[in-house]
Amino acid sequence: MKLAKFMAVLVGAAAMVGCAASEANNEVCSKEQAVVETIMTRRSVRNYTAEPVNREQMAKILECGIYAPSAMNMQPWAVRVVDAPDFIEGVTNIAVEQNPQLKEQEGFRNFFRNAPTVAFIACPVESYSGEYDCGLLSENMMLAAWSMGVGSCCLGSVVPVMNSEAAKPYLERLQLPEGYKLQVAIAFGYPEPNSTKEPERDLTKAYYVE
Ligand SMILES: Cc1cc2nc3c(=O)[nH]c(=O)nc-3n(C[C@H](O)[C@H](O)[C@H](O)COP(=O)(O)O)c2cc1C
Repeated sequence: MKLAKFMAVLVGAAAMVGCAASEANNEVCSKEQAVVETIMTRRSVRNYTAEPVNREQMAKILECGIYAPSAMNMQPWAVRVVDAPDFIEGVTNIAVEQNPQLKEQEGFRNFFRNAPTVAFIACPVESYSGEYDCGLLSENMMLAAWSMGVGSCCLGSVVPVMNSEAAKPYLERLQLPEGYKLQVAIAFGYPEPNSTKEPERDLTKAYYVE
Protein backbone atom coordinates (compact mmCIF):
# COMPACT_ATOMS: atom_id res chain seq x y z
CA MET A 1 0.00 0.00 0.00
CA LYS A 2 1.34 3.44 -0.91
CA LEU A 3 2.19 5.73 2.01
CA ALA A 4 -0.54 8.25 1.21
CA LYS A 5 -3.17 5.51 1.01
CA PHE A 6 -1.98 3.93 4.25
CA MET A 7 -2.18 7.32 5.98
CA ALA A 8 -5.66 7.89 4.61
CA VAL A 9 -6.72 4.53 6.06
CA LEU A 10 -5.19 5.43 9.42
CA VAL A 11 -6.82 8.86 9.55
CA GLY A 12 -10.10 7.47 8.28
CA ALA A 13 -10.05 4.77 10.93
CA ALA A 14 -9.49 7.39 13.61
CA ALA A 15 -12.33 9.55 12.32
CA MET A 16 -14.86 6.74 11.89
CA VAL A 17 -14.62 5.17 15.31
CA GLY A 18 -16.26 6.68 18.33
CA CYS A 19 -18.31 5.20 21.12
CA ALA A 20 -20.11 8.49 21.57
CA ALA A 21 -21.29 8.35 17.96
CA SER A 22 -22.48 4.74 18.39
CA GLU A 23 -24.26 5.48 21.61
CA ALA A 24 -25.98 8.47 20.02
CA ASN A 25 -27.41 6.02 17.45
CA ASN A 26 -28.43 3.57 20.18
CA GLU A 27 -25.74 1.18 18.95
CA VAL A 28 -23.49 -0.86 21.17
CA CYS A 29 -19.91 0.40 21.30
CA SER A 30 -17.73 -2.41 19.95
CA LYS A 31 -14.56 -3.65 21.66
CA GLU A 32 -12.55 -2.21 18.78
CA GLN A 33 -14.21 1.19 19.08
CA ALA A 34 -13.70 1.28 22.84
CA VAL A 35 -10.01 0.40 22.63
CA VAL A 36 -9.23 2.69 19.70
CA GLU A 37 -11.17 5.57 21.21
CA THR A 38 -9.37 5.18 24.53
CA ILE A 39 -6.00 5.26 22.78
CA MET A 40 -6.84 8.14 20.46
CA THR A 41 -8.45 10.39 23.09
CA ARG A 42 -5.98 9.87 25.93
CA ARG A 43 -3.98 12.99 26.58
CA SER A 44 -1.60 13.93 29.36
CA VAL A 45 -3.53 15.68 32.11
CA ARG A 46 -1.66 18.47 33.86
CA ASN A 47 -4.18 19.62 36.44
CA TYR A 48 -6.33 17.52 38.76
CA THR A 49 -8.98 17.81 41.44
CA ALA A 50 -7.70 17.24 44.98
CA GLU A 51 -9.56 13.91 45.32
CA PRO A 52 -7.17 10.93 45.39
CA VAL A 53 -7.92 8.16 42.91
CA ASN A 54 -10.34 5.66 44.39
CA ARG A 55 -8.21 2.75 45.60
CA GLU A 56 -10.43 0.11 43.97
CA GLN A 57 -10.02 1.88 40.64
CA MET A 58 -6.30 2.12 41.24
CA ALA A 59 -6.14 -1.62 41.97
CA LYS A 60 -7.69 -2.29 38.55
CA ILE A 61 -5.29 0.19 36.90
CA LEU A 62 -2.33 -1.59 38.52
CA GLU A 63 -3.63 -4.99 37.47
CA CYS A 64 -3.92 -3.73 33.88
CA GLY A 65 -0.31 -2.56 34.12
CA ILE A 66 0.86 -5.93 35.35
CA TYR A 67 -0.90 -7.63 32.43
CA ALA A 68 1.42 -5.81 30.02
CA PRO A 69 3.75 -8.02 28.00
CA SER A 70 7.34 -8.30 29.20
CA ALA A 71 10.33 -10.12 27.77
CA MET A 72 10.20 -13.77 28.84
CA ASN A 73 7.37 -12.71 31.16
CA MET A 74 10.01 -11.47 33.60
CA GLN A 75 7.71 -8.66 34.84
CA PRO A 76 10.80 -6.70 35.82
CA TRP A 77 8.97 -3.79 37.41
CA ALA A 78 8.27 -2.49 40.89
CA VAL A 79 5.37 -0.07 41.23
CA ARG A 80 4.65 2.01 44.32
CA VAL A 81 1.54 4.13 44.61
CA VAL A 82 1.45 7.14 46.90
CA ASP A 83 -1.55 9.23 47.85
CA ALA A 84 -0.20 10.37 51.22
CA PRO A 85 -0.40 14.20 51.24
CA ASP A 86 2.72 14.53 53.42
CA PHE A 87 4.78 12.61 50.84
CA ILE A 88 3.52 14.66 47.91
CA GLU A 89 3.97 17.93 49.80
CA GLY A 90 7.43 16.91 51.07
CA VAL A 91 8.75 16.12 47.58
CA THR A 92 7.10 19.28 46.25
CA ASN A 93 8.96 21.38 48.82
CA ILE A 94 12.26 19.80 47.78
CA ALA A 95 11.53 20.34 44.07
CA VAL A 96 10.62 23.98 44.70
CA GLU A 97 13.78 24.51 46.70
CA GLN A 98 15.78 23.12 43.76
CA ASN A 99 13.79 25.07 41.18
CA PRO A 100 11.87 28.04 42.67
CA GLN A 101 10.35 28.86 39.25
CA LEU A 102 8.01 25.90 39.66
CA LYS A 103 5.85 27.97 41.99
CA GLU A 104 5.27 30.50 39.25
CA GLN A 105 3.24 27.98 37.21
CA GLU A 106 -0.40 28.98 37.14
CA GLY A 107 -2.42 27.21 39.85
CA PHE A 108 0.66 25.38 41.18
CA ARG A 109 -0.22 23.12 44.12
CA ASN A 110 2.27 20.33 43.76
CA PHE A 111 5.25 19.11 41.77
CA PHE A 112 3.24 16.22 40.27
CA ARG A 113 1.13 18.48 38.04
CA ASN A 114 -1.21 18.86 41.02
CA ALA A 115 -2.02 15.13 41.04
CA PRO A 116 -3.27 13.67 44.33
CA THR A 117 -2.05 10.14 43.47
CA VAL A 118 1.34 9.23 42.04
CA ALA A 119 2.68 5.88 40.84
CA PHE A 120 6.45 5.44 40.93
CA ILE A 121 7.71 2.94 38.36
CA ALA A 122 11.07 1.28 38.95
CA CYS A 123 13.01 -1.28 36.96
CA PRO A 124 16.29 -3.15 37.47
CA VAL A 125 19.50 -1.21 36.77
CA GLU A 126 20.77 -4.25 34.88
CA SER A 127 18.19 -6.07 32.84
CA TYR A 128 17.50 -7.38 29.35
CA SER A 129 14.58 -5.07 28.57
CA GLY A 130 13.47 -3.58 31.87
CA GLU A 131 12.98 -0.04 30.60
CA TYR A 132 10.98 -1.21 27.62
CA ASP A 133 8.82 -3.47 29.77
CA CYS A 134 8.22 -0.66 32.28
CA GLY A 135 7.09 1.53 29.39
CA LEU A 136 4.53 -1.07 28.33
CA LEU A 137 3.29 -1.37 31.92
CA SER A 138 3.04 2.41 32.16
CA GLU A 139 1.00 2.78 28.99
CA ASN A 140 -1.35 -0.02 30.02
CA MET A 141 -1.94 1.79 33.30
CA MET A 142 -2.54 5.15 31.63
CA LEU A 143 -4.96 3.72 29.08
CA ALA A 144 -6.86 1.73 31.70
CA ALA A 145 -7.09 4.88 33.80
CA TRP A 146 -8.36 6.98 30.90
CA SER A 147 -11.08 4.42 30.15
CA MET A 148 -12.31 4.95 33.73
CA GLY A 149 -12.23 8.75 33.62
CA VAL A 150 -8.94 8.92 35.48
CA GLY A 151 -6.33 11.23 33.94
CA SER A 152 -2.59 10.67 34.00
CA CYS A 153 0.73 12.17 33.00
CA CYS A 154 4.13 10.48 32.75
CA LEU A 155 6.64 12.58 34.68
CA GLY A 156 10.30 11.98 33.86
CA SER A 157 11.17 15.24 35.61
CA VAL A 158 10.41 13.63 38.97
CA VAL A 159 13.31 11.17 38.71
CA PRO A 160 16.28 13.55 39.30
CA VAL A 161 14.46 15.17 42.20
CA MET A 162 13.69 11.82 43.82
CA ASN A 163 17.32 10.76 43.29
CA SER A 164 18.67 13.91 44.94
CA GLU A 165 20.16 13.76 48.43
CA ALA A 166 17.34 15.86 49.93
CA ALA A 167 14.69 13.39 48.73
CA LYS A 168 16.48 10.30 50.08
CA PRO A 169 13.93 9.71 52.88
CA TYR A 170 11.12 9.73 50.30
CA LEU A 171 12.98 7.39 47.94
CA GLU A 172 13.55 5.05 50.88
CA ARG A 173 9.84 5.16 51.72
CA LEU A 174 9.18 3.60 48.31
CA GLN A 175 11.00 0.43 49.44
CA LEU A 176 12.31 -0.35 45.98
CA PRO A 177 14.01 -3.74 45.66
CA GLU A 178 17.81 -3.85 45.76
CA GLY A 179 19.30 -3.10 42.34
CA TYR A 180 16.26 -1.18 41.09
CA LYS A 181 16.22 2.40 39.81
CA LEU A 182 13.32 4.80 39.55
CA GLN A 183 12.35 4.95 35.86
CA VAL A 184 9.45 7.39 35.85
CA ALA A 185 6.57 8.68 37.95
CA ILE A 186 3.01 8.78 36.70
CA ALA A 187 0.55 11.35 38.00
CA PHE A 188 -3.03 10.09 38.38
CA GLY A 189 -6.22 11.88 39.31
CA TYR A 190 -9.55 13.21 38.15
CA PRO A 191 -8.97 15.86 35.48
CA GLU A 192 -9.85 19.49 36.02
CA PRO A 193 -11.52 21.12 32.98
CA ASN A 194 -9.12 22.34 30.28
CA SER A 195 -6.26 20.31 31.73
CA THR A 196 -5.11 18.71 28.47
CA LYS A 197 -3.51 19.92 25.26
CA GLU A 198 -3.80 18.32 21.83
CA PRO A 199 -0.21 17.69 20.73
CA GLU A 200 -0.15 16.61 17.09
CA ARG A 201 1.26 13.34 15.86
CA ASP A 202 3.46 12.75 12.83
CA LEU A 203 1.83 9.88 10.96
CA THR A 204 4.67 9.70 8.42
CA LYS A 205 6.87 7.89 10.96
CA ALA A 206 5.24 4.52 10.31
CA TYR A 207 4.64 2.88 6.97
CA TYR A 208 4.84 -0.33 5.01
CA VAL A 209 7.92 -1.18 3.03
CA GLU A 210 7.50 -3.50 0.03
C1 LIG B 1 8.98 9.10 29.49
C2 LIG B 1 8.10 10.33 29.52
C3 LIG B 1 8.43 11.38 30.35
C4 LIG B 1 7.60 12.50 30.42
N1 LIG B 1 7.90 13.50 31.30
C5 LIG B 1 7.06 14.56 31.42
C6 LIG B 1 7.33 15.56 32.40
O1 LIG B 1 8.30 15.51 33.13
N2 LIG B 1 6.44 16.58 32.50
C7 LIG B 1 5.31 16.67 31.71
O2 LIG B 1 4.53 17.60 31.85
N3 LIG B 1 5.04 15.71 30.77
C8 LIG B 1 5.89 14.67 30.60
N4 LIG B 1 5.61 13.69 29.69
C9 LIG B 1 4.38 13.76 28.86
C10 LIG B 1 4.69 14.14 27.40
O3 LIG B 1 5.07 15.49 27.33
C11 LIG B 1 3.43 13.86 26.55
O4 LIG B 1 3.12 12.50 26.59
C12 LIG B 1 3.63 14.29 25.09
O5 LIG B 1 3.79 15.68 24.98
C13 LIG B 1 2.43 13.89 24.22
O6 LIG B 1 1.24 14.45 24.73
P1 LIG B 1 0.00 13.57 25.17
O7 LIG B 1 0.45 12.59 26.21
O8 LIG B 1 -0.99 14.57 25.73
O9 LIG B 1 -0.55 12.89 23.96
C14 LIG B 1 6.43 12.57 29.59
C15 LIG B 1 6.12 11.49 28.75
C16 LIG B 1 6.93 10.39 28.71
C17 LIG B 1 6.55 9.23 27.81
